[in-house]
Amino acid sequence: MKETFEHVAIAGAGLVGCGWAVQFALAGSEVTLYDERAETRQSLPSRLHVMLDDLEKAGLAKNTQDAFSRLRICHTLENALDGADYVQESVFERVEVKAEVARRIGALISSQAIVGSSSSGIPASAFTQDAPNRERFLISHPVNPPHLAPVVELVPAPWTAPDAVPTVRRALAAIGKVPVEVKREIDGFILNRLQGALLNEAWALYEEGYASIQDIDATVAHGLGLRWAFMGPFETIDLNAPGGLADYAERLAPLYHGIALSRTQPRSWSADLIRRVSEERRQALPLDGIPARTRWRDRRLAALVGHLRAQERSDEN
Ligand SMILES: NC(=O)c1ccc[n+]([C@@H]2O[C@H](COP(=O)([O-])OP(=O)(O)OC[C@H]3O[C@@H](n4cnc5c(N)ncnc54)[C@H](O)[C@@H]3O)[C@@H](O)[C@H]2O)c1
Repeated sequence: MKETFEHVAIAGAGLVGCGWAVQFALAGSEVTLYDERAETRQSLPSRLHVMLDDLEKAGLAKNTQDAFSRLRICHTLENALDGADYVQESVFERVEVKAEVARRIGALISSQAIVGSSSSGIPASAFTQDAPNRERFLISHPVNPPHLAPVVELVPAPWTAPDAVPTVRRALAAIGKVPVEVKREIDGFILNRLQGALLNEAWALYEEGYASIQDIDATVAHGLGLRWAFMGPFETIDLNAPGGLADYAERLAPLYHGIALSRTQPRSWSADLIRRVSEERRQALPLDGIPARTRWRDRRLAALVGHLRAQERSDEN
């Protein structure tokens, strides 16, 4: 049985599509990219080159010239999909856009190819219902930037063929991703439901005046997030009481239940709240500083990923 995909087509080459392209090319796949915007297609060679270069500088990739030579920009979706055994759809997160693209992709792929959607939270059944070959589609949701963050959520639609999740799981694991399986569809999947719980609480705490934005961010960056870089919430609490998880639950379950009961009527993020938080963020970081700060984040992430990989190797020895 084939372990990896030989030809990966990327449909939608924005932030996420480019990250996927770089990762697959580094792993040895031939990668074709299609984006509907001509300006985006023109900018792709230099963007992809910079991403590969940054990975090499961070010590996370070698032979990036070879990887670059495996990337091909196509001017039509038909050309990009021709001969692809895997398609990573990464267009806008809008159900009507994804539905139209799924219909076009479904009509162009072979009946053996698989299509993973990068959808952040819309389940595949919401946009593949009318697509030809709809049993070849599933969600393959990465974390941004996909070439640095390993986890990928795999979520089948009710009609996804039984071989699709295991095939994608194997192929992604073989290139260093960490696939996790969501057993049935739910809006937001696992990752964004967890992120949503934290974000909703962060907005509410700020709105109710309990802490500043900086201090809420610091609580995660310099507290919770440190452990979360290498262990999840269940393992975290298992190590936070001498008797393990059951001991932790006995001590703190009432506190957490009380917290949950205090938020049974969640409010939406109001326009006024968004304006106030946004104004504070823009004082800390002007809008035109976002690209530079994003590259800074990616450099920090690359260093962290390098550190975590080294730690995993030393744990194994
Ligand atoms: N940005 C994130 O943090 C993140 C993380 C994980 C998943 N995602 C998901 O990945 C997908 C892409 O998000 P992104 O952040 O890369 O957005 P983006 O805006 O950077 O890129 C989307 C690209 O798709 C192209 N596009 C739109 N319609 C198209 C079509 N019909 N055919 C071909 N190309 C088309 C656009 O021109 C654009 O370049 C979304 O589903 C998003 O929810 C985003």
